[in-house]
Amino acid sequence: MKLPKLPRYIWGLSAVGTAVGFYVLLKDTSGGYKYEGHEKLVGKTVVITGATSGIGKSTAEDLAIRGGRIIMACRDMEKCARVSQELIASTSNVNIYCRKLDLASLQSIREFVQSFENSESRLDILINNAGVLCKDRSVTSDGFELTLGVNFLGRFLLTNLLLNKMINNPEPSRIVNLLCFGYKDARIDFDDFNSELNFSAKNASKIATYANVLFTDSLAKKLKGSSVNVFAVNPGLAETSLRREFGSHKSYISGFLLKPLFVTLFKSARQATQTVIYCSLDSSLGAQSSGKLFCDCEEEFIGSKRYNEKISNRLWATAEVWTQLKSINMFNTNSDTNLNKT
Ligand SMILES: NC(=O)c1ccc[n+]([C@@H]2O[C@H](COP(=O)([O-])OP(=O)(O)OC[C@H]3O[C@@H](n4cnc5c(N)ncnc54)[C@H](OP(=O)(O)O)[C@@H]3O)[C@@H](O)[C@H]2O)c1
Repeated sequence: MKLPKLPRYIWGLSAVGTAVGFYVLLKDTSGGYKYEGHEKLVGKTVVITGATSGIGKSTAEDLAIRGGRIIMACRDMEKCARVSQELIASTSNVNIYCRKLDLASLQSIREFVQSFENSESRLDILINNAGVLCKDRSVTSDGFELTLGVNFLGRFLLTNLLLNKMINNPEPSRIVNLLCFGYKDARIDFDDFNSELNFSAKNASKIATYANVLFTDSLAKKLKGSSVNVFAVNPGLAETSLRREFGSHKSYISGFLLKPLFVTLFKSARQATQTVIYCSLDSSLGAQSSGKLFCDCEEEFIGSKRYNEKISNRLWATAEVWTQLKSINMFNTNSDTNLNKT
């Protein structure tokens, strides 16, 4: 049978399509940085916030394959149940559980910790993964700008409330804080910490990110001498649902046109997960690395000027007051919290 003659550009397009297809298929196994450690997690408990999609889901899968008891701390219980069943099937680990946690509600965080305390005997790894990227300003149920509330204040409270469990863990434990880009030039304006006067999506993300850099550093200093280490991770640009509120993901046409580009240029969720796994498990990371930021499985130096003690102390004290942690302050901070939240 004679095949119809196709225009040349069709052959060109088909060749490009095939090459991109191969690249995407191979990228998870061959491209980028891959954590090669073979640590097992049998008998250990891991909490992962926002484990229903993207990097959180991929992290849950990797740690479940290693035999850990995985607590998926998620706001949408239906979605969580669906994803946990998927992970149980793909990892053959039946110890994957859903627990309700909405980081946009201080009450939900406290209820999560209460139920965790009542039912779990240990906590080996806490992965503060859940995060949002908000196009327009909105607030949490406690009145915090949403990016700040979920990406920083929520995890600040969660981590502090879980600290006792980690400090008293029979084996060393770790905290991993995921954050975005923008920490190099972000500035925290304590007079408008809640972005009421000026809000931009980019700035809100940068403030929360920088707050996490300082939080990780301060927490490591406060935990010095304990068996808990804390690391910050910038997973790099990954194609996940994080940008769901933005044009390219909302519009069918731009999604159709840009998606192949994003998939090609950005990391896959699995690739972005590698540094999270590295910081959760690698034995070369000890107290000397606690408080540091990691990217592509290497320490990222962001300059000593960024670690400003005065700003760090004020940030910590502010977060303590805003999240109402102050009354159970484990570290007795006494700093300027001269802030109004309306
Ligand atoms: N993707 C990137 O390019 C990139 C770059 C740098 C840093 N990061 C960081 O990586 C982390 C994971 O992001 P991702 O890319 O995997 O995004 P993602 O696919 O959108 O996942 C975000 C997760 O956070 C959860 N979440 C959002 N708000 C929450 C809340 N109030 N309470 C509890 N969980 C909540 C989401 O739950 P639902 O499923 O219910 O929505 C989802 O499971 C984030 O901290 C992000 O800032 C990502």
